[in-house]
Amino acid sequence: MKNVGFIGWRGIVGSVLLERMIKKKDFDYINTIFFTTSQFGQLIPFNIQNKCKILQNAYDIEILSSLDIIITCQGSQYTNKIYSKLRLIGWNGFWIDASSYLRTSINSVIILDPINLNLIKKKIDIGIKTFVGGNCTVSLMLMALGGLFQDNLIEWLSVSTYQAASGAGSNFMRELLLQMKFISEIPNFTKNYTNILDIDKKISKNIKKNNFPQKYFSVPLAGSLIPWIDKKVNDGQTKEEWKGQFETNKILNTKNIIPIDGICVRIGTLRSHSQSFTIKLKQQLSLDNIQNIIKSHNKWVKVIPNDMNNTINNLTPVAVSGKLDIPIGRIKKLNIDKNCFSAFSVGDQLLWGAAEPLRRMLKLLLDY
Ligand code: HSE
Repeated sequence: MKNVGFIGWRGIVGSVLLERMIKKKDFDYINTIFFTTSQFGQLIPFNIQNKCKILQNAYDIEILSSLDIIITCQGSQYTNKIYSKLRLIGWNGFWIDASSYLRTSINSVIILDPINLNLIKKKIDIGIKTFVGGNCTVSLMLMALGGLFQDNLIEWLSVSTYQAASGAGSNFMRELLLQMKFISEIPNFTKNYTNILDIDKKISKNIKKNNFPQKYFSVPLAGSLIPWIDKKVNDGQTKEEWKGQFETNKILNTKNIIPIDGICVRIGTLRSHSQSFTIKLKQQLSLDNIQNIIKSHNKWVKVIPNDMNNTINNLTPVAVSGKLDIPIGRIKKLNIDKNCFSAFSVGDQLLWGAAEPLRRMLKLLLDY
C-alpha cells in the first residue's frame, strides 16, 4: 500500500475531499497519514482504516519525505513553504495540490482527467510528479464545454461569472450569512413597514450601518454583488479573469492559444458557481449539433432545454449544490454573428471545481 499524506483536510475543500474519499472508499487502498499545522500529536478525529492514528506535523520534512504521495488542500502559503524544500532534498514522490501556487510551473500539470487524461498520462510517463487542481470556474467551464474544446471548434470565448462565496473560503460564507441576517432584521416588520419602498429604505440603511459585518468582503455582498475577484494583474484584468485563458490552454495543451476573457463577479450565493458564455465557433453549426457535441462528451454534463420551466428548476446554484452534475442551458444562437451562440452553466465549485479532480488523480496514480 502506498503511504499517502493528507494535509489541509479540515478546510472547506479538504473537508469535501475527505467526505468524497470516505464515500468512494478511497481510504481502503492507501495507508493515510493525516497532518496538521497546529495540533500534531492529537488523535485523528474520525474513524478511517489506517495504521497511523496520530496527527503528524505538517512542517516535518523528514516524515513528509518518507511518503509516496502528498495530497494538500492547505493552500498556496503552505505549498510555497514546503514544496521546494522537499524537492531540494531529493524527494521524488507525487504532489497533488488544490492551491494555485504551482499551476504556472512548467513542471506541473493542471489536472482535470475527463478533459486531459491523455496529457496527464503522458506527463506521468516522462516523470512529472506535480499535479495541481485547476481554478474552479475554469474546471467547471471545461466540464460543461469539453466536447467543443475536444473537437477544436472554439475560436474564442467570453465569459461572465457569478461566483459563490465558497470560492473565497469558509469565513466568507459565514460572513455572507451574517450579512443576510443583518439586512433583514427589521423590527415590527409587518406593523411599521407595509409599503415596499419603506422596507427598501430601511434595508438600504441597514446595509450602510457601521456595524455591518464586512470584515472579509470589505463591502456588502448580500443585497449587492462584487464585480472583482482576486488581485489586479495586466490590462485591467483580475487574476481570476487571467486564469481563464492561461489555465484552459495549459489543461488542453493547445498549440495555438484559444482566446478567453471576461468579467468575474462574486454574488451572494453560498456554494455553487454559475457562468454565462458567449462563444464564437470556427464554423457554423446547428443548435442540435452543438447540443449533441456537448452532451456526448462526459457523463456529468446535462443539457437543459432552453425553456423557462427547465431553466428555473434545473439551471441554478440551488439545483446543483452537492452534486457532480454540470447542467448547461440557455443554448441559443446570437444575432450578433452566425457562428456565435450563448450558454449558461452551473456547477458545484467544491466538487468538480476543487475536490473531485484531486481524488481522481490519486486514484489514477494508484491504478497506474
Ligand atoms: N478563485 C475561486 C473563487 C475559487 O474565488 O471563487 C475556485 O478556485
